[in-house]
Amino acid sequence: MAIKKARISIDRDIEISKVDERIYSSFIEHLGRAVYEGIYQPGQKSADADGLRQDTIDLIREARVPMVRYPGGNFVSGFLWEDSVGPVSERPSRIDPAWMVVETNEFGLHEFMNWSKKADVKPMYAINLGTRGTLDARNVIEYCNVKQGSYYSDLRRKNGAEEPFDIKLWCLGNEMDGPWQMGHKTAAEYGRAAAEAGRIMKMVDPSIETVACGSAFSGMPTFASWEATVLQEAYDQIDYLSLHSYYGNRDDNTPDFLASSVDMDEFIKSVVSICDYVKALKREKREINLSFDEWNVWYHSNEADKQIPHWVKHPHQLEDIYNLEDALLVGSMMITLLRHADRVKIACLAQLVNVIAPIMTSDTGAWRQTIYYPYMQASTMGRGTVLNTAVKVDCYESKYGDAPFIDSVVIKDEERETLTVFAVNKDLENDYEVTMDVRQFEGYQLVENLLLTGEDLKAVNTEEDPDRVKSVAVSNACVEDGSLKMRFPARSWNVVRLAPAAK
Ligand code: AHR
Repeated sequence: MAIKKARISIDRDIEISKVDERIYSSFIEHLGRAVYEGIYQPGQKSADADGLRQDTIDLIREARVPMVRYPGGNFVSGFLWEDSVGPVSERPSRIDPAWMVVETNEFGLHEFMNWSKKADVKPMYAINLGTRGTLDARNVIEYCNVKQGSYYSDLRRKNGAEEPFDIKLWCLGNEMDGPWQMGHKTAAEYGRAAAEAGRIMKMVDPSIETVACGSAFSGMPTFASWEATVLQEAYDQIDYLSLHSYYGNRDDNTPDFLASSVDMDEFIKSVVSICDYVKALKREKREINLSFDEWNVWYHSNEADKQIPHWVKHPHQLEDIYNLEDALLVGSMMITLLRHADRVKIACLAQLVNVIAPIMTSDTGAWRQTIYYPYMQASTMGRGTVLNTAVKVDCYESKYGDAPFIDSVVIKDEERETLTVFAVNKDLENDYEVTMDVRQFEGYQLVENLLLTGEDLKAVNTEEDPDRVKSVAVSNACVEDGSLKMRFPARSWNVVRLAPAAK
């Protein structure tokens, strides 16, 4: 093993953008055991009187998850929201063709809003623009956000919620470009549907923001032209365009897998360009920003999911068990999102509990998967303003092009007086010694240094061994003569925090 060198350069006044805290959001779909057994399990030992699991709420609060997208995902394109309100005993069970399961609707809109309060998360609610349309969009926002005196607002009050839910952020459908989507549309068809749904929803409540569907992933054959067409149709009625990306180490090629964030970076840059192209075409002043509302590693469970019988209730579905290398990529993807904080205002780690999730549950407990650590640490320590950085580091060749061995982001928080570095060392063999001139942060000293690494890239956490892969406090960094010196071990996720020395 050699010790390699890199340098990060910053200027205190050269900023990318303030971080919108919604970049640390997540996602709960009616899928597998995300809702049932994940956040809701009446009778489970940690469940409260409403059947909400306190153990998962504790982990969600620990990660300071600011917002949760709900109720889908592919599920939403066949969902009738009225099924999920009113007396539970009268709610219908329905098949969900997206995931070939049965949804009982025992947990619905009011239960989700109640859970959101307890978990201290804001809702991001998705409407069905697959098998439904404008009228339904009008009805659901009337139900949620109108105070009283109309059919749906009074129905909400009758169902127990006197005050409006006041949901501020709405997804106009989900992955409508995907042929797998119920009610799949062409770009022109979807663009019109999103424009009309967005228009009527903003007529009912002008204070809301809307997210239109971009491509389901950058490899879609219609990618780019889809975005351009949707934006041309719906620009005035939307605030954000969505992006989704999942990666997997299917060929067991860890360097390529860890380079997936290079692909994500390209995807973001392309979508920003398309948004700005349509802005110019339309002579618009207002920018459309990005909502990366599904991102994660997803592949471990693909084969097992093929064995699940159809039309059962909340099976073990999409239950990826994450290892160390997955955590490194999740860290790198989080860093990539933060480096685009000027345009990526919303991002949702997909998903939150049990289904491709940082948190797993059984009937007896809840535990942190490996990917929980970079997500939680970024969310809790990455508030503030992203600084522009120039990084001098070697790259390696990957299937996505040149990938830097060190992926990093630097965030200053002038209010709390902290300077935080998040970094992934993708070199599987060699440690890196990284320096950063911090003379502009006079008097700042190291206050925290956290490390996630290990010999075995495939090591996982389980209920029996929940702490096999976890972040630990180390002393691999120091400030000397105005220079921050950091040691990033081979294959690692690192957090380095500075603050003024106590007076
Ligand atoms: O998160 C799992 C699924 O991935 C979502 O339902 C869908 O939107 C995406 O394809």
